[in-house]
Amino acid sequence: MTKYEIFLYLRDLAKKYGPVYRTWIGNIAAVHITDAEYVQLILSNSTHIRKGYGYKFLLPWLGDGLLTSKGKKWHRHRKLLTPTFHFRILENFMDIFVDKSKFLVKLLDKKANGEPFNVFPYVTRCALDIICETAMGIQVNAMTHEKNEYVDAIYGVCENILHRVTRIWLHPDFIYYRTSRGKKTLQYLKVLHGTTNRVINERKHVLLQTNNQNKKLQNQFGTRERKAFLDLLIEASDGGTTLTHEQIREEVDTFMFEGHDTTTASICWTIFLLGLHPEIQDRVYNEVSQVLCEKSLELSDLSHLNYLERVIKESLRLYPSVGFITRFASEDIKIGTRIIPTGTSVGIHIFDVHRNEKYYPEPNKFDPDRFLPENTKNRHPYAYIPFSAGPRNCIGQKFALYEEKTVLSYIIRNYKIKSMQTIDTVHPINELIVRPSEGLLVSLVKRIT
Ligand code: HEM
Repeated sequence: MTKYEIFLYLRDLAKKYGPVYRTWIGNIAAVHITDAEYVQLILSNSTHIRKGYGYKFLLPWLGDGLLTSKGKKWHRHRKLLTPTFHFRILENFMDIFVDKSKFLVKLLDKKANGEPFNVFPYVTRCALDIICETAMGIQVNAMTHEKNEYVDAIYGVCENILHRVTRIWLHPDFIYYRTSRGKKTLQYLKVLHGTTNRVINERKHVLLQTNNQNKKLQNQFGTRERKAFLDLLIEASDGGTTLTHEQIREEVDTFMFEGHDTTTASICWTIFLLGLHPEIQDRVYNEVSQVLCEKSLELSDLSHLNYLERVIKESLRLYPSVGFITRFASEDIKIGTRIIPTGTSVGIHIFDVHRNEKYYPEPNKFDPDRFLPENTKNRHPYAYIPFSAGPRNCIGQKFALYEEKTVLSYIIRNYKIKSMQTIDTVHPINELIVRPSEGLLVSLVKRIT
């Protein structure tokens, strides 16, 4: 089976056997859920916050970071990290979002000749530049440099994790790390951890120096003070008593993992859908043109991009970047007349929840107005969960929305987009992230601004 066939097969299972069904992979049983009522039972319950089986493949890279940790540790870190995503902190990242978006447009200018090309790698590199600078305060110049050891290692490790997840015989460590891919993964991890460790030490040093001089932390990129997430974590670590060096690294690595592929996929699916719906694209263009005029985008502008926000939300409904998450049943869960026994892995199929006719009439239709306040007020609160929901929801959702609105505004302001694939010829696959299997072919024509 190809990855696309597996994707279709899972959609089929949901239709045939949903809203609750069971599968076996080898001797591992899993229960799958595709309805908001049941999703709510799991996600809103703080007893079931432990992640399911598949996350173990992320542990060698992310360790016990926020995404993968459990129990008291997760609780303490979540509390500690929540203030770092306050909108006042995110405001400082607007310059980065804008600079990188402008640079992306410069690169896309070379492609804006009406010829089809795959836009996915361009957006990926832009998102990587953004996350490296916001999370670690470093510039990796993914958009300019074709070769970068850290960027290559991120690509490599993500690809190898996906490769491993889908091959059950590679799951045991003692087999995997004897294969050439397993060995290569260890090399990538050395680069990734080596870089994060080095950057943490450098930033600690800068922080110490500036404290000694009784000055505020210097920003190495401009005159205005701007702190990366890493700086905030070092400050919150209280000299290593609250967060150790290793724990800081795990959190930064987690942001690096969660914070670039997800936004890339979402931006690309939005481009795809706009390229299929010229009338919706024109409406977004008009809104963006009014807000952007001749100036750079500022945080206060984002709240005026209401239609664009509805477009992004609807695009995340149809193609949620994270299409599937799992939880470990920490105690028996009663679902209707059935019991999910303690210890079972419970899969929540965000993709299928979002396409459930019960909540979305004509579920495959792209209609941003589904997110008008009058159309959302009676909808089940767990029928729209691209960022998950409940205590373990996505901590970075505001960051993601700010980034996406900024990057998309600059793209739409500059180009007329046409999609070369259709809903039927684009093949989504679920590789931790829902992405198009053959990339995303678009043609761009420069707008006269
Ligand atoms: C469109 C973009 C994004 C989507 C769709 C998304 C989606 C999600 C989802 C579904 C989860 C729950 C995962 C699970 O239960 O296993 C999650 C968790 C998380 N996300 Fe995001 N995410 C996005 C962007 C980001 C960004 C930009 C960051 C950080 C800069 C981030 C950081 C995290 C972290 C740290 C967690 C774990 C939270 C916890 O368990 O307490 N995400 N995200």
